[in-house]
This record gives sequence, C-alpha cells and structure tokens, in this order.
Amino acid sequence: MNPPALSPLTSAQSDLIASLPPSFRFGVATSAYQIEGAAHEDGRTASIWDTYCRVPGAVAGGDTGDVACDHYHRMPQDVALIRSLGVDTYRFSVAWPRVQPGGRGLANPAGLGFYDRLVDELLGQGIDPWVTLYHWDLPQELEDAGGWPARDTAYRFADYAMLVFGHLSDRVRTWTTLNEPWCTAMLGYAYGNQAPGRRDFPAAINAVHHLLLGHGLATQRMRAEAAGPIDLGITLNLSPAAPATTDERDRAAAWQADGLGTRIYLEPLRHGRYPSDVVDALRARGIELPVHPGDLETISAPIDLLGINYYTGHLYSGVDEHGHAEDVEGIPVQRVVPRGLPTTAMGWEIFPEGLTDLLVRVGQDYPGLPIVITESGAAFDDEPDETGFVRDDERTAYLATHIAAVAAARRAGVDVRGYFAWSLMDNFEWSYGYEKRFGIVRVDYDTQARIPKQSALWYRDTVRRVRTGG
Ligand code: FCB
Repeated sequence: MNPPALSPLTSAQSDLIASLPPSFRFGVATSAYQIEGAAHEDGRTASIWDTYCRVPGAVAGGDTGDVACDHYHRMPQDVALIRSLGVDTYRFSVAWPRVQPGGRGLANPAGLGFYDRLVDELLGQGIDPWVTLYHWDLPQELEDAGGWPARDTAYRFADYAMLVFGHLSDRVRTWTTLNEPWCTAMLGYAYGNQAPGRRDFPAAINAVHHLLLGHGLATQRMRAEAAGPIDLGITLNLSPAAPATTDERDRAAAWQADGLGTRIYLEPLRHGRYPSDVVDALRARGIELPVHPGDLETISAPIDLLGINYYTGHLYSGVDEHGHAEDVEGIPVQRVVPRGLPTTAMGWEIFPEGLTDLLVRVGQDYPGLPIVITESGAAFDDEPDETGFVRDDERTAYLATHIAAVAAARRAGVDVRGYFAWSLMDNFEWSYGYEKRFGIVRVDYDTQARIPKQSALWYRDTVRRVRTGG
C-alpha cells in the first residue's frame, strides 16, 4: 500500500474521533448483487435486479450484475483485503435466489456453501461477520406472484431467513433482516427507478407493511430458534427532513416527508403503531395500510440494534416553483430545496451535521436501542494515477467528517456503537451501473484488480489509532 495521506481533519474533528472508545466498531459494507457476479452459477436463479437490468434504459450503460466485482470467485482475496484495512466487522448480504432458488422450498447447498466459506474465512481472519438477509434481490418468481405488495412475500421471506439462520447462526451473531425498506417500497414500487420498476403508490404502501411484517416474522422466528447470544436488527435509510423556511406549509411538508421516510418505519417497529398523521394522509388519498390483527405485535418484536444508513439530509418546501401548495391530483407539495452545500457525484449534498442531528433525534424519540451506522460514504469521479492509485481527498474528508459527526452524537449521549464505510470497493451502483464509484478500494473492472484508495489508507490508520487509543 502507498503511504498514508495527511489527515484532512480540523483539530476539533480529530479530537472527536480520538474520543471514540477502543470498543467502537469499525466496518466496511457491501451487498450481494452489487459485488458477487456469478449470476448464473451453482443453481442461482434470477432476482428482480437481473430482470430489471435487462429493461432497455433502466440501468446506465446497460450494465448488469452478471460479473460485478467477481467476488464469488475472489472471496478469499477480498477477505484478505478487508483484513488489511484493520476493520473488525464486515457487513455483507446473502443473495436470496442463490440460497433458495425461486424463493420457495429447500435450500440450495451450493448457495449456502458460499456463505459458509465466507463466514469461515472472515472468522479465520478475526473479522466479525454481519449478515444482512435482504439487500434488494427478491427472487423473480416471488415478484411474479405479486412481490412485496403481496402479503405472502412476508412469509416467504421469513422461511428464507430461517434457512440461512439455521445454517450460519452457530457462527454469526449479528443479523439484519432488511436493508432500507424505504428504497424497496418507494424506489421499487412507487417511483420505478429501481427493481422491479413499478409505478404504483398504493402498491408501495402495501410493500411497506409487508416488508415490516417480514422483518417481524423473521425476527420472532430467529429469536425463538437461537441457540446462543444473537443480535437482531434492521437497517433503515434515514435522512433528517427540515423545513426550508418557517412557513407553515414548509413545516408541514418536512413533517410529511419525515412521516413516510422515518416514522412509518420506526413507530411500528418501536411502538407497535403507525403514525396517525401518516395514516390520515394516506386515507385522504384512498389508501389503507393492509394491517391484519396481530401484525403490529409481530412488527414490534424486540430488536437488539438499529442500523442506520446515512448519506445526506433534505430541506423541504410545501410550495412548488409556481406558488402552488398542491399538485394537479390535489396531493400536498413536498419539494426538496437545496441547501447550497457541495455535493457528491450522486448530486447529494454533503451534510455531516445532519448525521449528528439525526442520531440525537432517533436517540430521543426511540430510546433504548443501540445504533450502528451500517452505511456511510460517497461517490466521486475518481481519477486514478498511472499506477491506479486514487488520491480521493473528497471521499477521505467525507468519511472523516461523518465519523466525527457520529462521535459528536456520542458526546451528546446517543448510544451509537459503530460506523461502516460504504463501500469496501467500487461496485454495481444499481440504476447507475458501474458509473458511480463508492469504494474506498478501486476496482479496475478490466482486470478485477483491487487498489486501495487514499481513503482506505486513512480509514485503516484511523481505525488503528482509535483501537490503540493513540
Ligand atoms: C444505499 C444502498 C447501497 C448503496 C448506497 C450508495 O441506499 O443500501 O446498496 O447503493 O445506497
């Protein structure tokens, strides 16, 4: 590896990071479809992403996850790479159609075998495996049967979860059911810019409830079958929603965005109820959450930790550019207003203070739940030198300021216990294909070479300093 770069931190930020205890968990995160490749090997069947990638124009460059980072064939080297970063945790996801082709019935031994070897390799290198059961790769057959808007999918998910849990829970302690149900429901079923690409808002609201139900069913069953200590949780993508001005309509727009982005998940998970303002707003549009008796008890089954993925925060206005407070269908306007901050290559504003605010708020409104930042990171237009090395000052600064923001939340009394960089390496960024690079390690897709960027070296050194209290 190249020599470490100078720290881009202010001294206040350095002090904050130095205040993290040696027990603070540092990790790197990935997901199956984004890195594994081997899409047609060892019995894996198609997921909604395999299908969506074949829709003309759906994914930039017509890219697919067929090969991705070829992690399926390079797993031991990738684990060695994680080891070289000195992190203690690796968060990865299990590909449902690899483990249970078609989404029903028996497990596929070859699919489970891959995760067996991965877990053993991680443990052998002293790295804690952190499993996410669902990171967006629904078996296509289940989408054909109705997908997440159909109640049965929740039960299918719980069955699948138990196949994986039964096989790996002798060695894996930490289990996340779902990654970012908001994205699955809204991007997948309402906005249609992620798989399966449907544009049906009422279907998306059904999906919200069935995702949460699937989480609850799986959580109850894993808890019941656990032979030893386990930590169960869910990962939500949360972003603070604030009004652009003190105008009442802007306040209402921000509160509504918070309702569909944050409270529609955390209220049922933690308090066993959907927020009444959200229920009323949906009802005004003729939409009911498809709640059956007992569902909310299932959904609020106790969990041990909350994963939060944080990328940015938004300001909202309740008035459009023409001064209208409702759209043509009579739905209240919710317009994102830029703060005027620098942005990443995704166009997302860089707003580390938002992470501190978010953590303080979640800690206050939903107390008693340890939090881990299960994803945080940034895409930039990397420019490698002739050796392939990327001096990514912006990404390094992004990581540094966001880790400092987490440390600030801890100082304010929030029980946040870890930070995982998204992502270990450049990978298939969903609808953006390979165009957007989030890795702290560069992937040369022609050769599949992995080249740690400056941000990886900075992260390694920071982890080491915190570990040793130095
Ligand atoms: C999150 C996803 C992750 C990755 C990052 C950039 O929403 O969980 O897979 O795409 O965004």
